[in-house]
Amino acid sequence: MKGIILAGGLGTRLRPLTLVTNKHLLPVYDRPMIYYPIECLRNAGMDEVLIVTGGEHAGDFLKLLRNGKHLGLKHLEYAYQEGEGGIADALKLAEEFADGGKVCVVLGDNIIEANIRKASGDFFTQRSGAKLLLKEVNDPERFGVPQFDDSGKITNILEKPQDPPSSFAVTGIYFYDADVFDICKTLKPSGRGELEITDVNNAYLKRGDLTYESLEGWWTDAGTFESLHHAAGLVATGGANKLDTDAAPANDQLNTTVKSS
Ligand code: DAU
Repeated sequence: MKGIILAGGLGTRLRPLTLVTNKHLLPVYDRPMIYYPIECLRNAGMDEVLIVTGGEHAGDFLKLLRNGKHLGLKHLEYAYQEGEGGIADALKLAEEFADGGKVCVVLGDNIIEANIRKASGDFFTQRSGAKLLLKEVNDPERFGVPQFDDSGKITNILEKPQDPPSSFAVTGIYFYDADVFDICKTLKPSGRGELEITDVNNAYLKRGDLTYESLEGWWTDAGTFESLHHAAGLVATGGANKLDTDAAPANDQLNTTVKSS
């Protein structure tokens, strides 16, 4: 299965830091934020990765990640998202890369402790549809929040609800079959002007083709000053698995493809 990291958007919640660099290149303790989703995919056995980014500092990703070999990746591609049309808008750019196969999508500001290998294997054997990873949190109103029926089945997912129907967050790690790109094409911008990943997940729910698992270990996003600070503390004390960052020489031959929307 291929991996897709969505690292577009303008990172406005982290200004002025994001005036001079891309949010996903900011440090989280001892390494750039983007290393963590790469690690998440690579540790689960996914070493063919597409990074969707955008904004005026997109070129800096190449300087840091090069062809990804030194990070344990077999193949690394980049795509460029114009503007900030939302997570599902960024995902649209991955259709050609996915090439009709299943994908694991990770948001570029999500950091986890555990290995998602089991969930990835489970989804590999799931006939079709999508799988979400959920985590119980203290502040569900900041996230996509599932509503459950008495049997524990998800009946709806609400994006940043004022009155959350459960204490679970839909984390930014999603598994999709190839239909996800057709679903993305049917979406309309939300009130905040974005194509919402929650609408994609609700579309799978409507089809009766959505499963979920609980994410083990700690999980955090890092898109606000509070969560960025919190993430650094978790990594420093709890230790997300580390990449062997600079094992390869800096002049490794580049083997990258840059696409634009
Ligand atoms: O972290 C999990 C949450 O992420 C989910 O629970 C929510 O359902 C989901 O909507 C999302 O919420 P956020 O408001 O935290 O998303 P944010 O706008 O911060 O975007 C998260 C990442 O997605 C960001 O680091 C890069 C990528 N992104 C975002 C936008 C808006 C893009 O690649 N392109 C975009 O246009």
